[in-house]
Amino acid sequence: MTVRVAAEQLKEEIISWRRQIHANPEVGWHEVATGNLVAAELAKMGVEVTRVAKTGVLGVIKGTAPGKTVALRADMDALPIAEANDVPYKSKNPGVMHACGHDGPTAMLLGAAKILSGMRDKFKGTVKLFFQPSEEIGGGALGFIEAGATDGVGAILAIHLWPSLPSGKVSLVAGPRMASADKLLIKVRGKAGHGSMPHLGVDAILAAAAITMNLQSIVSREVAPLEPAVVTIGRFTGGTTWNITCDEVELEGTTRCFSREIRNNFPATIARIIKSTASSYRAEAELEYIPISPPTINDPLVAKVAAEALTELYGEDMLGELEKVMGGEDFAYYQERIPGAMVFMGAGNTAKETDFPLHNERFNLDEDVLPAGAALHAQFALNFLNR
Ligand code: NI
Repeated sequence: MTVRVAAEQLKEEIISWRRQIHANPEVGWHEVATGNLVAAELAKMGVEVTRVAKTGVLGVIKGTAPGKTVALRADMDALPIAEANDVPYKSKNPGVMHACGHDGPTAMLLGAAKILSGMRDKFKGTVKLFFQPSEEIGGGALGFIEAGATDGVGAILAIHLWPSLPSGKVSLVAGPRMASADKLLIKVRGKAGHGSMPHLGVDAILAAAAITMNLQSIVSREVAPLEPAVVTIGRFTGGTTWNITCDEVELEGTTRCFSREIRNNFPATIARIIKSTASSYRAEAELEYIPISPPTINDPLVAKVAAEALTELYGEDMLGELEKVMGGEDFAYYQERIPGAMVFMGAGNTAKETDFPLHNERFNLDEDVLPAGAALHAQFALNFLNR
């Protein structure tokens, strides 16, 4: 039986897993019921199961001959959003929803596990299934890495379902696909005084306003014009009342880019600008730069093997185009260590109302695409291990 036919035959089961997971969403590090469901289903398939990274599940399927190791990754966490869809499998957990569609990839990877566990005589080596926790708030991928799950792995693949890409299309290319996403916390310190005598105090609001403006010169004047980058200040908090000069302002923000080099330069550049700006206003500033995730950059060979698996399954027509996105993904941590590719699989269908954006309270998936995700995972693993 071909992988495509096997995936089609599993369609109802994959949808049923997806709906059970969708109805019982859990936020990062709390994926207990989801992890138990995944572990129980893998055990039924005869897959070796270990629990790693607190609520994560690692499955291992060995071929009948020794060989390389490949990893397939799904993320299991939901978001603190109240679901506004009226569907039979609506979230039963108030205020929590699978609004990034991680229920889909989790079910697709279970489907791939079922296909591959029935084909052990068709491949050499080992398939590792990463059902990782906590992608949205970060830490899940690092948890798997710290547990040693990536040791000896030659390639890793992940699929994210994407609502702005039509169902039946898949974007699978080499190079940058998702941006880095880091956090900034800046404290600007001045000296309180009477609002009528500003020269006797040090106005932290004026210094922080200048810092906010000057930080915008990083993208316009320090990053090459052909490189996309973002520096955003999203919170500006300070002051006590109308007639007192402010002694402390807190700024919070984020940086985004697609280059490991630009990302590495952000902390020193930002620190230089905030300190020199603050001192020109007689204030002081300090930076806390909090790394959240690196840029998601697809390895050329892994992307090629995966694209060939896809066209072998469904033909060239399935290859679609999606511009890279400024959102971040903790899959990037695996890619810093192992050649890997992130696939965007279209799940947008206006007639089925599955074209609401990610993280929207009306977000939903076109379930008809799920077998193709399971098939792509399985075919990629077979082709990588047997090449
Ligand atoms: Ni997501």
